[in-house]
Amino acid sequence: MQKSDATVHILAESEEESCRLVDGLRSLGFEADAAIKAGNCIGCKQRNDIVVVAGRFYEQGRRRLPPLCHANRDRIIVFLADMRSEEFGALYQAGVRHIETIGKVPTDNIVYHLSQMDPEMVYRASKQRALRADKSLVIEQGALSFFKKLRDGAVDTAIEETEQQRRAIEDLVAMSPMSVWLDLFQNYHDGTAQHCSLVTSFTLMFAKALGFGERETGRIYDAAFFHDVGKAMIPLEILDKPGRLDSHEWDVMKQHVLFGHDILMRDERTAGEIARLARDHHEYLDGTGYPNGATAAGIDDPTRILTICDIFAALVEKRSYKSPKKPEEAYAILKSMAGTKLDPDLVSLFERVVDDYDAAGRRARAGKSFPPPMRPPSDAAGSPDDATRPAMHRRTA
Ligand SMILES: [Fe+2]
Ligand SMILES: [Fe+2]
Repeated sequence: MQKSDATVHILAESEEESCRLVDGLRSLGFEADAAIKAGNCIGCKQRNDIVVVAGRFYEQGRRRLPPLCHANRDRIIVFLADMRSEEFGALYQAGVRHIETIGKVPTDNIVYHLSQMDPEMVYRASKQRALRADKSLVIEQGALSFFKKLRDGAVDTAIEETEQQRRAIEDLVAMSPMSVWLDLFQNYHDGTAQHCSLVTSFTLMFAKALGFGERETGRIYDAAFFHDVGKAMIPLEILDKPGRLDSHEWDVMKQHVLFGHDILMRDERTAGEIARLARDHHEYLDGTGYPNGATAAGIDDPTRILTICDIFAALVEKRSYKSPKKPEEAYAILKSMAGTKLDPDLVSLFERVVDDYDAAGRRARAGKSFPPPMRPPSDAAGSPDDATRPAMHRRTA
């Protein structure tokens, strides 16, 4: 049996098609990337790697298949639309055994050939999917248990137990394409678990787009993870209210930033910057935010970054009282706040994250082979967040 720690390299005619197939395979737990042409040939990093060639490959009216590595012919899958019998014969003659005549390639077809070529690779991919499902469960259950412990007053144990959950989010984001973790998070039963996971993940993506190093990324990641802990102190009838909050309820809701600060100051692991960002993540540059109405001079970069990720996540989340906004709608709202409430340069840089998010969603809709959500979408009440409520946006916009 072939060694299975191999990568599947995809060479499709367009970058978009390559990305769709790479994402499709990665969502199924395979190691996959877009193939790199090495000189005149499609290169493989390892002998056991597999190359998938998919397309029509017409150039100036003639079909030209990219030259294939001689050494890897038994590890090549060719999908060619409108193939003539002499082309098929030539490929077969050249040693390629996995050939299919097809235009648009479903990921399932690739997996079928992979299972013939390298069954252990397919087995490992299924194990990877199971591992992801486990991590996803750790994240959701961890968030539920964390908030429950905080409500019960067990701050120390609650914070102690977040380590596993934080690692699980990092691992899940690192091991899966965005479409996979979005799909998992979006279908969590609990709105707070959904929100915290999304904000934390968007923060990781943004830190990457900004070129942050490990230390800076860690700082902003921790702050994002704990930013809404104060919601544990907000009565559930307000937190889970399926409609708009009245002004009294809204005043109570705004207290979550101070409650969060108090909770986090009680533990030396979270006192300091993490607690401060929990307090300040609803402050706006023009002084219209809360709790202190801080202005630009008093709002540092990590807070500005967190606020952008928080608002965007809240806008694209499913909630019981609103449907999720499309990425371009959510980003338009961010842009309408840029320069007055939000840092305009950071909002502009955040567009990269929005583009990735948008592309991930489009690929997920285009692919047939994405794993189903772990559970059917829930209508259970989410945790209302001020940034998600249209009336609250209008309050400051
Ligand atoms: Fe908040
Ligand atoms: Fe939030």
